[in-house]
Amino acid sequence: MAPWWIDAVVYQIYPRSFADSDGDGTGDLRGILSKLDYLQDLGVDVLWLSPIYPSPQADNGYDISDYRGIDPMFGTLEDFDALLTDVHRRGMRLIMDLVVNHTSDEHPWFVDSRSSRDSPKRDWYWWRPASADGPPNNWGSIFSGSAWTLDEPTGEYFLHLFARKQPDLNWENPQVREAVYALMNWWLDRGVDGFRMDVINLVSKDPHLPDGQKLPGDLYGDGSPYFRNGPRLHEFLHEMWENTFAARDEKLAVGECHGTTVEMARLLTDQDRGELDMLFHFEHVEIDQARIKWLPREYTLPELKEIFARWQQGLADVGWNTLYWDNHDQPRVVSRFGDDGAYWYESATLLATVLHLHRGTPFIFQGEEIGMTNFPFTSIDQFHDVESLNYYTQSVEVRGRDPQVALSMITPMSRDNARTPMQWDDGPNAGFTKGTPWLAVNPNSDSINAAAQVDDPRSVLAHYKRLIALRHEDPVVQLGRFDLLLPDHPRLWAFTRSCEHSRLLVVANVGGEAIDCDVDMTGELVLTNYPDQAAQLRAWEVRVYRQELP
Ligand code: GLC
Repeated sequence: MAPWWIDAVVYQIYPRSFADSDGDGTGDLRGILSKLDYLQDLGVDVLWLSPIYPSPQADNGYDISDYRGIDPMFGTLEDFDALLTDVHRRGMRLIMDLVVNHTSDEHPWFVDSRSSRDSPKRDWYWWRPASADGPPNNWGSIFSGSAWTLDEPTGEYFLHLFARKQPDLNWENPQVREAVYALMNWWLDRGVDGFRMDVINLVSKDPHLPDGQKLPGDLYGDGSPYFRNGPRLHEFLHEMWENTFAARDEKLAVGECHGTTVEMARLLTDQDRGELDMLFHFEHVEIDQARIKWLPREYTLPELKEIFARWQQGLADVGWNTLYWDNHDQPRVVSRFGDDGAYWYESATLLATVLHLHRGTPFIFQGEEIGMTNFPFTSIDQFHDVESLNYYTQSVEVRGRDPQVALSMITPMSRDNARTPMQWDDGPNAGFTKGTPWLAVNPNSDSINAAAQVDDPRSVLAHYKRLIALRHEDPVVQLGRFDLLLPDHPRLWAFTRSCEHSRLLVVANVGGEAIDCDVDMTGELVLTNYPDQAAQLRAWEVRVYRQELP
């Protein structure tokens, strides 16, 4: 029997930026509770909450200091239970963010581990003595700088693939794994419906931690072949599944898996193997980046189509895809792959349609459904994100780049583009808070906001509602076979989804000039983003036809 998520749509909430109920400038759980009518009306089935656990917030909560609580900035466990109850009452589900590749350096496990070389928890993290060059190996951190920090009192270095306040847990130690499964079960017992698993394919590392390749001009070696998709990944995930999900019905495990191939994904998401249910790969969201995310790369539409098509074909018989453009780590899709100026509405709805009509589970990131855009940054003081700030500092201080150049490098890709407060209405601070928001509201909130769209049938929001409804109703959207048409066409993104007796045809003009569409556009028009019909496909026009098959 097909799993429940074949017709489900997930909505990601970034709690800091969603809705502030108490005027302290940061979103919170009561704020989320107050918006459940909106989410139910949108039609989404699952809510994914980015981390709400106690945290020093060095990486906005992806640095957890207590896995069994709620950070006071977001509320209390009672607030959480109230939220969960109401979500369930409305027939929706809720999944938590599980961040267990690393903890905060303020987590009691790490405090204990760093206290002495003899600590019983010493081996819960990756401690190594200095090498002749200082750090134990040449790996760079994903957030710039070395992946190692010296801890003076014990004279050894600890590994942190991310910020120095995010030490990596050592999953080779079975006690670590047991502790992780225990905290997962604690939340599952409380009623949560599963987890989005942060950087889960980094948990198995080559324990020898060899130096990575260092190309000319690089400051550090690339350790990813040794810390990503490591030798025990499948074993650890299956063990996790057996100790948590196996005895429970209908729980969802979504893994964030940077650098996985389709072949790996077939194994990781094969329902018969008991590892993950679906995963996020990054191929399409790295298409516009050169070797690092801050260096832009020209790409073509055929390349983008090929990535989607390859994943569709690869997971057609085994495994399952996620479908996403946006999340809290990516810039806004309409600014990135669309046109957030003249064709804001058309391109936002086109991109949504193309994505949602692939086979897989779509993920919407808060604000995507109203076409929120990137932020017009002009100064480094406007940034908050540790990844952006670290790269900026390294660029200016270590590489000696001009500060304006460094600023222009981080602006288009910065994660802060996604993290600005949700735009609820055209009032002060977009209705997000009565206080001072922790991150500035996008100045376009006077025109782009939820209130302006709720009653407008020709809005981005209304279009998302139709797409979600279509997935709920239509078996072709859920399970239909995917076929890409005209793969080499530079502007047309066209594909079909077919079941035995009917098929959907999606044709989309990815660009600002009208084109001829050399595809048989007959049948019932079920969805489009233009009010009338023309022979050509106009700027950013998308059409979906239902065609009966003989
Ligand atoms: C994931 C999260 C990102 C976080 C990182 C480290 O990529 O999505 O926000 O900074 O892991 O936890």
